[in-house]
Amino acid sequence: MTDHAKLTGRPVISSTGLFTPSESITNEELVASFNEFVKRHNERNAALIEVGDMEPLAPSSVEFIEKASGIKARHVMAKKPVLDPEIMAPRWPQRSNDELSILAEIGVKAARDALDRAGRRPEDVDAVLCAASNMERPYPAMAIEIQQALGIEGFGFDMNVACSSATFGIQTAADYIRAGNAKSVLVVSPEITSGHLNWRDRDSHFIFGDVATAVLVEDAGVAPAAHWDIIGTKLKTVFSNNIRNNFGFLNRAYPEEAGGADKLFVQEGRKVFKEVVPMVAQMIIDEAQRLDLDPQGLRRLWLHQANTGMNRLIAHRVLGHEANEDESPTVLDTYGNTSSAGSIIAFHLHSDDLQNGDTGLICSFGAGYSAGTVFVRKAA
Ligand code: COA
Repeated sequence: MTDHAKLTGRPVISSTGLFTPSESITNEELVASFNEFVKRHNERNAALIEVGDMEPLAPSSVEFIEKASGIKARHVMAKKPVLDPEIMAPRWPQRSNDELSILAEIGVKAARDALDRAGRRPEDVDAVLCAASNMERPYPAMAIEIQQALGIEGFGFDMNVACSSATFGIQTAADYIRAGNAKSVLVVSPEITSGHLNWRDRDSHFIFGDVATAVLVEDAGVAPAAHWDIIGTKLKTVFSNNIRNNFGFLNRAYPEEAGGADKLFVQEGRKVFKEVVPMVAQMIIDEAQRLDLDPQGLRRLWLHQANTGMNRLIAHRVLGHEANEDESPTVLDTYGNTSSAGSIIAFHLHSDDLQNGDTGLICSFGAGYSAGTVFVRKAA
């Protein structure tokens, strides 16, 4: 039973949780599979290529991937089919409606980790938001399935703001706390990005990895003594076609197009890089000023994990100097881009060492465009 007199309307992060798939693909394994696919494709189409009716596919390279992105490996839910040059997509046994969905399964694992770390039981939680880029189905909501699997009363719903889903989820949860509509909200981000990634596309086949994270947002009055005060949250969206995925059930009207490459992740990587870096850096600086914080005094930035180059530039603009790994930690090398989960993994793995009163920033950016900032201060 909650003692309602204790509620403050002040949102905090009580804990986070992480589920990491056991399987991982190195750049070397990825490139070997991709280049075998390229070889077979070019052999199959040798006649067309010979007469100039088809461009041969070009091979990928480990050196390019590491230099362009900072990614060395990525976790996946199904390694074998992804690396099979004849499949190059995740596969697992289809589940019946009576079994837990795979997206809900990994979301539940991350959520249980967050609940355990905060010493919470499911009955303490009022709401579940499943905030992720690629839902397994339109309905029933993944959040409601996760809610049921955990045994939580109250309500749940899905939200998709691509790579910014988790920060948008945190603000939504914080707003429920601020309004007094909930005292404890789980924001779960199961990201099986391997399903939407085009593993046959040289420009992007190396980018994404699978993972699940959870963030427990609570009223300060019921939170554990060790928590993170949410000092302020800010969201921003600006429409852009530079990162896009056209998959959807309306494609049914055009069956001949249903399998097209634009039904998977596509991007204009260079444009994204150029447009998103200044937008996000300015947003962070403006929001810090609004909150009366010196951006250069931020102890740590837990930035969205898309690309080391983007993070280096954003951190430099915010902190006023080249950030080191301690100031702006990266998890890209082992996780790749995990969409909305990236900044939460960085926070989860690299926040225990901060001291009482230290201020930091969780920040996301991605398709939409969308960007979210969550300024936090360590308490106890
Ligand atoms: N292996 C080897 N060479 C490759 C390659 C691969 N897998 N993919 C592309 N190349 C080549 C290109 O053909 C090009 O060659 P050219 O200069 O002879 O024409 C060269 O490398 C540069 O390609 P480009 O696509 O311009 O690379 P980039 O330096 O812009 O890096 C990204 C690509 C995606 C890593 C980069 O644009 C980026 O980080 N963008 C940010 C957006 C992002 O990460 N979004 C994720 C969703 S939030």
